[in-house]
Amino acid sequence: MKIREKYIDFFVSKGHKQIPSSPVVPENDPSVLFNTAGMQPLIPYLMGEKHPYGTRLCDYQKCVRTNDLDEVGDKTHHTFFEMLGNWSLGDYFKEESIEYSFEFLTRILNIPVERLAVTVFEGDENIPRDDISANKWKSLGISEDKIAYLGKDDNFWIAGETGPCGSDTEIFYFRSSDTIPEKFDPEDDRWVEIWNNVFMEYYKKEDGTFTKLKNKNVDTGMGLERIVATLEGVDDNYKSSLWANIIKTIESVSNKKYDGNEISMRIIADHIRAAVFISADNSGIKPSNTDQGYILRRLIRRAIRHAKKLDIDISSNWDEKIALAVIDEYKKYYSELEINKQVVLDVLKLEKEKFNKTLEKGLREFEKMIRNISDNKLDKDLAFKLYDTYGFPVELTIELADEKGIQVDIEGFKEKFKAHQELSRTSSKGKFKGGLSGNSEIETKYHTATHLLNAALKKIVNKDIHQRGSNITSERLRFDFNCDHKLTDEEKKMTEDLVNKWIKDSLDVTRKEMSKEDAIKSGAECQFIEKYPNIVTVYSIGDVSKELCGGPHVKNTNELGHFKIVKEEASSSGVRRIKAIIEVGDKNE
Ligand code: SER
Repeated sequence: MKIREKYIDFFVSKGHKQIPSSPVVPENDPSVLFNTAGMQPLIPYLMGEKHPYGTRLCDYQKCVRTNDLDEVGDKTHHTFFEMLGNWSLGDYFKEESIEYSFEFLTRILNIPVERLAVTVFEGDENIPRDDISANKWKSLGISEDKIAYLGKDDNFWIAGETGPCGSDTEIFYFRSSDTIPEKFDPEDDRWVEIWNNVFMEYYKKEDGTFTKLKNKNVDTGMGLERIVATLEGVDDNYKSSLWANIIKTIESVSNKKYDGNEISMRIIADHIRAAVFISADNSGIKPSNTDQGYILRRLIRRAIRHAKKLDIDISSNWDEKIALAVIDEYKKYYSELEINKQVVLDVLKLEKEKFNKTLEKGLREFEKMIRNISDNKLDKDLAFKLYDTYGFPVELTIELADEKGIQVDIEGFKEKFKAHQELSRTSSKGKFKGGLSGNSEIETKYHTATHLLNAALKKIVNKDIHQRGSNITSERLRFDFNCDHKLTDEEKKMTEDLVNKWIKDSLDVTRKEMSKEDAIKSGAECQFIEKYPNIVTVYSIGDVSKELCGGPHVKNTNELGHFKIVKEEASSSGVRRIKAIIEVGDKNE
């Protein structure tokens, strides 16, 4: 039996209910591009909502991490990966969680106890050392020498900047055939971290302080790719059984063998697998120039570039063959792959056709460009030309340049890109439309009104309210936010009045670019910081609102009409939805 099945069976036998994997694109949270951890879809329940399946859950969850996309290509990082997880929502806590992990590893996977070591939280000025976990480990037969006490950087886990969090205990496995050292050294990379048990009992607020969560929860995560490779005794994930068929297909289409040194093969394997899962998601992501679509485009185009490096005939159906190998491998666990198979193949085919048309010419142009530069720097105009005329995602240009020891003026490129985007917004309606970035005058007004509404809800209802979703049409705004109750008539009225007061106050709307770090320091509203590039745009409205945002916005709140909430309803558990309109040319004047 495979590890995945063993894991689920084990936790089901311990009273857990298996929950289905959520889509890779979060359902109710447009502020993150993808689910990056198994716990992400469970955040409302870790915060205290009742889960329909009860208090003990387990699953395998599709995750996508793109913040270190350029590291993908080594032997252990993946864009898409699966996380095995088990949770206690206010049910068992540290001791039982550790017992389960220990039993699963030693009895079900038959790992000898000598091969295991753990880290636990050493404590700080606020939270005491986690002796409960350490003692439990000792009682199970993990010697003191195999326990390392580490600080917040290593043994405290949180998904982003704010949210449910807590100290954790991480489990390591000695992978090498060397003699196992007496003393565990977490820095020694023969010890591989295989499992993370987080004891989520705190909530980190925007101001950096912690409150206690309603419940003491357990959130554990074990990367499937890593545990499979580790137990199969390979230090290259792509040599494990999980990847065998995919790698075999790449070997066949490229007519080359994979012996562990072929970075391009790994990139192709990883990127096509991720592209298959992203485009099979029911959210219907297609390659584009924004958000998830841009990631999908980058993945496919980077895979194509590496296929070319392997001398694969890129106009043949090599990508389809690899995608089918991926679908075959996973359809048993994710039925959407089979159901949306044609969608996936069409996405790949269309994007490949688009890119193939210009790739060859673009590469020639790139070669020409670098022959003519003198100072090893590719300026913004050249980088932009590769993007605009040849469809090279700037990351691809950077990678190509990097291979030649050339630097790209990335900041300059971004400026040019932004200017170009703004131009396109006004000249070709909707071309770059993504997320909130509407483009008509009325949509722009709604956009600013959305920021005011967000700020007003914080003042009137609860300062911990944050955006959970937003949608703007020329008719209305729709705003989803976390809130544990239906708004009272009074709360609605006061929120409405406050927004209208700010409109009457004629507050200036200002736009400032700054580093992400400064933006956070300045207290700008932003739920999931990792989504943003290093240089961000912050919009301030007088001193009532400050948000990370791409715009566009009006110049002054007096351009908005009278603001009116027309509906307030539940959106999903713990999330409320407001629909509001702006009545132009009326009472406000
Ligand atoms: N959330 C933790 C992690 O991602 C444990 O699942 O490591």
